[in-house]
Amino acid sequence: MNSQAIPYGKQAITQEDMDAVMDALQSEYLTQGPRIAAFEEAFAGYIGSQYAVAVSNGTAALHLSALALHVQPGDRVITTPITFAATANCIRYCSGEVVFADIDPNTYLLDIESVRKLLQNAPKGTYQGIIPVDFAGRAVDLEKFRKLADEFGLWIIEDACHAPGGYFLDSENTKQYCGNGRFAELAIFSFHPVKHIAAGEGGMITTNDEILYRKLLQLRSHGISRERADYVNSVEFAGGVDEYPAWYMEMQQLGYNYRLTDIQAALGISQLGRADAGLARRRAIAEKYHRAFSGQNYVKGQSGMVEGHAYHLYVMEVSDRLGLYNYLREQRIFTQIHYIPCHLMPYYRNRGWKEGDLPNAESYYRHCISLPMYPSLRDEEQEYVIEKINRFYNG
Ligand SMILES: Cc1ncc(COP(=O)(O)O)c(C=O)c1O
Repeated sequence: MNSQAIPYGKQAITQEDMDAVMDALQSEYLTQGPRIAAFEEAFAGYIGSQYAVAVSNGTAALHLSALALHVQPGDRVITTPITFAATANCIRYCSGEVVFADIDPNTYLLDIESVRKLLQNAPKGTYQGIIPVDFAGRAVDLEKFRKLADEFGLWIIEDACHAPGGYFLDSENTKQYCGNGRFAELAIFSFHPVKHIAAGEGGMITTNDEILYRKLLQLRSHGISRERADYVNSVEFAGGVDEYPAWYMEMQQLGYNYRLTDIQAALGISQLGRADAGLARRRAIAEKYHRAFSGQNYVKGQSGMVEGHAYHLYVMEVSDRLGLYNYLREQRIFTQIHYIPCHLMPYYRNRGWKEGDLPNAESYYRHCISLPMYPSLRDEEQEYVIEKINRFYNG
């Protein structure tokens, strides 16, 4: 049974996926072709947003979001330390200042009360935005964050990399899907192979704001517009007579090449078709872990069963985390730690952050471990993981 290593996460590639990629490879377009818009439309439909912009990865999605929202040098943006560094780094790309607020020790998500405290203790205008993260796949209550953000005039970027298909229940008990654009100006996703939808690399930005959408389309491709209505230079300058010539385009702002390829989009579309099945499998795996571990004396906390949780990760807080981690490695079970608190990375320490600044995040880091969680994890593999964990603690 233990011939194959069990990682904490991995992609599942089917024959259908491979056929879709082959079709793209044999088509006229490897990039900038029709599969990009098709992926965007399908993704927006799945998430429930009006618009979606496909980009080269989740980090590019964050960078473009910060640019679209005009993050300026010195702007202060609040986020969680329990996330992948890219969430915070996008603000630094624009020379803004990252202000980390502590997590809620029960949900592991950015604690709204810590954010409120920061906002209330500073003159209005001190902060420009908030980036909550649907960490591990658990949806942030964005209705509450929106209310707070509006009170202080802040924008919100939802980092939903862990949570396509996840949702929270709003004050009227309605499901609000991650990235649906109801509460945040922008939401971002990643299609890295460990995520719900794998495209090799890839990312998406969703929004309901048409102006931001148009801006993002330009920013992802060098800041170039091909929309005649937007043109600044004259028809005459462009070389036309009564209308702009067909070759004409304008670079109107400083953009990047953050495009997704059609090869990746083909894989993304194919994977998206199985997203609901993958999500259901993740929830079934979570339920089994939950049943196996709740009440065990070595467990200090666990993801548990939460409605709308998308279970990108199944996180537990345990005693003797190092011992368990190393023991499982010996059994070829490769768990992972999500995350080393961002504010204590040397880069952010050099910007003034220190141990003790965010006690909940730091305490969480001392105990957390992410168990294998991916749709193709077989029942017997999960049972093996559970058995080994119990054996480590109970002998
Ligand atoms: C929460 C979070 N934000 C952002 C990213 C960045 O995405 P990518 O790896 O596609 O650049 C990741 C992925 O690792 C992530 O987990």
